[in-house]
Amino acid sequence: MDIVLATRNMKKIEEISRILNGLDVTLLTLRDFPSCPEVEEDADTFQGNAVKKALEIAKCTGKPAVADDSGLEVYALDNAPGVLSARYAGENAKDIDNIDKLLKKMDGLPDGKRGARFVCCIALADPGDGGRTVTFSGFVEGVIGRELKGRLGFGYDPVFYPAGQGVGSQRTFAEMDPDEKDALSHRKAALEQLKVHLQACVFKI
Ligand code: IMP
Repeated sequence: MDIVLATRNMKKIEEISRILNGLDVTLLTLRDFPSCPEVEEDADTFQGNAVKKALEIAKCTGKPAVADDSGLEVYALDNAPGVLSARYAGENAKDIDNIDKLLKKMDGLPDGKRGARFVCCIALADPGDGGRTVTFSGFVEGVIGRELKGRLGFGYDPVFYPAGQGVGSQRTFAEMDPDEKDALSHRKAALEQLKVHLQACVFKI
């Protein structure tokens, strides 16, 4: 079975391929379908965006498609930046601009009010069957620091401390090597659920 990953982002392609490795499927990407359009992420939920992208790419390619949407939710900010995570500080904002805006909004918030989570929603769309979709969500809880720490990763990693680390040994995602971050990440949690689903779909007796 062919599956199209609805992305041209090499980092995402590599991460998804690593986690889905071992399945009896051939992974294609939007790089194999250059004429497919860029899908606008204009829904107000992660799930809405992932489903929209997966459906449009399944329709365009005629093959089952997998799309994701992810971002950061800060509880004290009514779950902002949420679906606007990539463009929190404006349409062409860089990661550092988004972090600056976030830290300003959280200025003065005490330790107990700095809780947040990363969310990843993955949708699998079938081009036949009326465009049937299934979705899988993964989360990682943590807290937002007061300054940037670490140089690895991307996005909000330098200010995100995943929960569950021992007292005195807290590190941000940007201080962890990729394997260590992958093991804790919201994307991995969602992709593992997709993998179980696909294993059941391609299982042959
Ligand atoms: P998208 O899923 O590619 O649309 O990503 C949305 C945005 O959410 C990214 O541009 C980042 O700002 C943020 N984000 C999503 N996942 C992560 C992560 O693992 N670390 C840091 N930031 C993330």
